[in-house]
Amino acid sequence: MSVGANIESLMHENRTFAPAASFTAKAHISSQEQYERMYRKSIDHPQEFWAEMAGDLTWLTPYSHVLDDSKPPFFKWFTGGKINIAQNCLDRHVDAGRGDKPAILWEGEPGDAKTLTYRELLTEVSRLANALKSHGVQRGDRVAIYMPMIPEAAVAMLACARIGAVHTVIFGGFAAESLADRMNDAQAVALITADGGWRRGKIVELKANADAALAKAPCVQRCIVVKRTGQDITMRPGRDVWYDDFVSGSSEHCPPAALDSEQMLFILYTSGTTGKPKGVVHTTAGYLLGAYMTCKYVFDLRKEDIYWCTADIGWVTGHTYMVYGPLACGASVVMYEGAPNQPDMDRFWSIIEKYRVSVFYTAPTAIRAFVKWGDQFPQRHDLSSLRLLGTVGEPINPEAWMWYHRVIGGEKCPIVDTWWQTETGSIMCTPLPGITPGKPGSCAIPFFGVDLAVVDRDGQEVAADTGGYLVIRKPVPSMLRTVYGDDERFKKQYYSDIPPYYFTGDGARRDKDGYFWVMGRVDDVVNVAGHRLGTMEVESALVAHSKVAEAAVVGRPDELKGQALCAFVTVKAGIPTDDALKQELKAWVAKEIGAIARPDEVRFTETLPKTRSGKIMRRLLRDIAAGKQAVGDTSTLEDYSVLAKLREDQE
Ligand code: PRX
Repeated sequence: MSVGANIESLMHENRTFAPAASFTAKAHISSQEQYERMYRKSIDHPQEFWAEMAGDLTWLTPYSHVLDDSKPPFFKWFTGGKINIAQNCLDRHVDAGRGDKPAILWEGEPGDAKTLTYRELLTEVSRLANALKSHGVQRGDRVAIYMPMIPEAAVAMLACARIGAVHTVIFGGFAAESLADRMNDAQAVALITADGGWRRGKIVELKANADAALAKAPCVQRCIVVKRTGQDITMRPGRDVWYDDFVSGSSEHCPPAALDSEQMLFILYTSGTTGKPKGVVHTTAGYLLGAYMTCKYVFDLRKEDIYWCTADIGWVTGHTYMVYGPLACGASVVMYEGAPNQPDMDRFWSIIEKYRVSVFYTAPTAIRAFVKWGDQFPQRHDLSSLRLLGTVGEPINPEAWMWYHRVIGGEKCPIVDTWWQTETGSIMCTPLPGITPGKPGSCAIPFFGVDLAVVDRDGQEVAADTGGYLVIRKPVPSMLRTVYGDDERFKKQYYSDIPPYYFTGDGARRDKDGYFWVMGRVDDVVNVAGHRLGTMEVESALVAHSKVAEAAVVGRPDELKGQALCAFVTVKAGIPTDDALKQELKAWVAKEIGAIARPDEVRFTETLPKTRSGKIMRRLLRDIAAGKQAVGDTSTLEDYSVLAKLREDQE
C-alpha cells in the first residue's frame, strides 16, 4: 500500500439537509445528546457498552469476557459465550409470535414471485441443516454457495450457520476459474448451487460453470443443485444431487447448535480491485452484533419495515444487510433476482411500488446508471412508501446524491451514506438518520464503538479539512479476525502500515463539523507536480457537470509533472462527445476545484471497467492511460469487452 505524504483535499461541498422533525420524533436515536452519550460510552468504556448492546441478542450460554485483547491484532469477543445466528434471525421471531410475518418477499427476474414467512424460512433452514448434517457436513466444514438471488441462497447461508458449518459465498457472476480458486483456498467439502439464474433475460449457466470448477476442486464431495431455470444440465452420479431430493425426508426440526462466539461464520473473498482475492474471515457473535445494531440504528429498522438492499448475496453487503442484519431485526426483506433494466429501466421502481418498500439501500454505481437513464423511469411509479435511503460501496458523487435525494427520496427521505468494508463486517461511518444533517458526498460520523481517525503516516491525527489516512484505532466486534489460512498476511495487510492501528487503505479528510469525507483508495491517489490528489474529488467535479453521467480519473506518467491527470468520461444519453465538450470539461474542473486538478486529457467512453460489485477499476484505466496493455489481475472485471473498447478508442 502506498502510504506516502499527505493527500490534498480540494473539494468544498457546503450543502446540508436536516432530517424532518417527523422522522426524528420516531427514530431510535432522536437527539444529538443521545448519540454523544452513547458514542462516548462506547469509546471510553467499550466493555460496558458492548455488554449492554449484546443484551439484545439471544444467548445459549452467557459469555464470560467481553473482549480478549491479549494478542493484538487477534482480538476475541464475548469469549466463553455460546450463540447461534440462525436462532437469532429466525426462532426468536417465531417464538415471539411473529411466525406468520413475511421474512423474504422474493421476485424473480421473469416476474415470478414467492413469499416465505419467518416460520416457513425456519422450516426450510432446518430441513437443509439436517440434510447437510446427515450427509456428513460437520461444524467447521466449509460449504461453498454459488447461487442466483433466490430464497434458497439465504436458506443455504442460514442452514450452515445453524449447524456451525462455514459458508463461503461466491458471486454468481464469477466464472469457473474464480469459483475453483475460492473453493480450493477454502477447501470446501460441499457446493450448493443452481442449474442457472436469470439475468437480463438470459440464463446464467451456473451448473455448467460449477462443473468446470469442480473438475479442478477435488475437495468438494457433494454438489447440491436447486432447480431454478430448468434447462438441461449434467448431474454426476454420486456427487451431484437435486436440492429437493437432498432435503426430502429431512426433519423440520433442527436444534440450533450452541456455537462459540468466535466460531468461524463465513469466509468471503474480497472483490479485489487491486490484486489476488483474499479470504476475509468473520466469526459469530461479534459479527451478528454489528449486523443487528447497525440495522437498528442506521436503517432505523423496525418490524413494520419493508426493507430492500439491492446487493447480491455474493458480497458482504448481501450477507450483512440482506440476510443477517435485517432478519435479526425481524424486518421483511425484499429480494430480487435480476437486473435493474429488465424488462425496462424502471424495474427497481416498480418493485418499490409493488412491495411498498420503506427502506432502500443501493450503490452509487447503480445511482449513476439511473441518472444516465433519465428521470422518466422513476417518475412512472409511486415511491411514496420510501422513508429512508442508503448507499454503500464507493464515495457517492455529490450530484448523484442530490439526484437520489430529489428524484427517489422526494426530498423527504434521509440518506445514509454508509462507509464500511468487507473486512469491517458492518457499517463503521454513517449519518444517523434521525439526527445527522446530510452533506452530499460525506459518510458523516463514526458509528458506536468506532474510533475512526484521519492520520498522517506516523499515526498522528491531522488537522480538520486536511487529507490523510483513514484508520480505526480500537477493536470493533464485527471486524475480520484474519485472512483465511494466512495470519501473517492479515497482520501485514491491515496492521503494518500505520501501527498499531487498523489501516483501511482509504484516504479521507474530516471537516470542521467532524464529518468524514472518504477520498477513495490510497492506491488511486495521483501525484501532480508534487500535489497528492484523491481522484474521487476530480471525478465528483466532472459528475457535477450537467452533461456527465460518470467519470474515472487516473494518473499517467508525465515528464514534467510526475503524473498527468487522465479523465475517462461517460456522458448522459443523447449528448454529443466532441472536442468542444472536452475543453469545456477541463475548464469546468479547473473552475470547480482548482487549476491543479484540471485534467490533461479527457477521453469519452460508453462504459467504465468495473468489478462485478460495481466499483470502478482505476488500476486497469491507469494501464490504458499509460498506453500499456492491462497487465494486472482482471478476474474480477465485470465486462471484458470494455477493456478492448477502451484500447480501440485510444488507437
Ligand atoms: O474505499 C471504500 C469503499 O469501498 C471499500 C470497501 O469495499 P468492499 O470491501 O468491497 O465493501 C463494499 C461494501 C461495504 C472502502 O474501503 N467504500 C465503501 N463504502 C463507501 C466507500 N467509499 C466511500 N463512501 C462509502 N460510503
